[in-house]
Amino acid sequence: MAFQMKSEKIGALDAVRIITDDAEALLTPHGAHVLSFRPFVGEGEDVLWGSEKSNYEDGKAIRGGIPVCWPWFGKVNMPAHGFARLTRWNMDRPTEEADGSVTVILTYQNQEYGLAARVTVNVGKALTVTLDTENISDHAIPLTDALHTYFHVADVTKIRVSGFDGCDYYCNLAKTMNRQNGDIIFNREIDSIYSAGSRKAVIDDPVLDRRILVERFGSNTAVVWNPWIEKSAKMEDFGDEEYKNMLCVEAVNTREDARTLAPGAKHTLATRISLL
Ligand code: BG6
Repeated sequence: MAFQMKSEKIGALDAVRIITDDAEALLTPHGAHVLSFRPFVGEGEDVLWGSEKSNYEDGKAIRGGIPVCWPWFGKVNMPAHGFARLTRWNMDRPTEEADGSVTVILTYQNQEYGLAARVTVNVGKALTVTLDTENISDHAIPLTDALHTYFHVADVTKIRVSGFDGCDYYCNLAKTMNRQNGDIIFNREIDSIYSAGSRKAVIDDPVLDRRILVERFGSNTAVVWNPWIEKSAKMEDFGDEEYKNMLCVEAVNTREDARTLAPGAKHTLATRISLL
């Protein structure tokens, strides 16, 4: 069957729903953002999470889905996580691949900053998001970036994340270096930047009875985040209880994996998300 494509509105934003034989995804050109990914297996529940309190308007970040943090990660500069997630990108018409998956390309460039970006979203049995950056200026430019994926889980206190055993991580809360021992479990606020480790992490959700494989490419750092109770209460675009149903596992280039792009140089960061 050929894929289907439906135009929708989410809040004030334009969005497009892509339906293939294998999965359904919702994308918006605002921030080149994937909002939803639902493979048609099992109960077909959304793999991605979005807040009931999220803003969906020009100039504001979306709380959920896959924010593209570019051309910097975190608060090294303002706005936090870069300006790309606040801006409308150009979106091409979706095209079908030979395997029945569907590809959408979104582009954005900031001449003044000197960088151009392209996000390629491929929707099939897996969801693959690829962020290409090119230095279009005549001078070297630092780059940190992230595909800041929010995953939907039934109960974060019951899940385990594997793939980081034995990895060093920087705890953004205590500002200390630590070493991961075993799986990551969630019983407190977590905001950790993992170094290297496996490029594969698995989120094991025993309540939804599913395992989500999160792969990273072009990324030697991964961020794992859950705001827990106090931070959730402080964020105006995040429900007080919503931390129970989400976590972020992000493909990142930051800290020791920060890049510098020479004139004309390119960098590719990607994540692939699938159910095992
Ligand atoms: C994570 C950071 O990547 O994003 C956290 O490690 C941050 O420190 C979180 O709180 C959410 O950021 P924001 O800007 O979307 O609220």
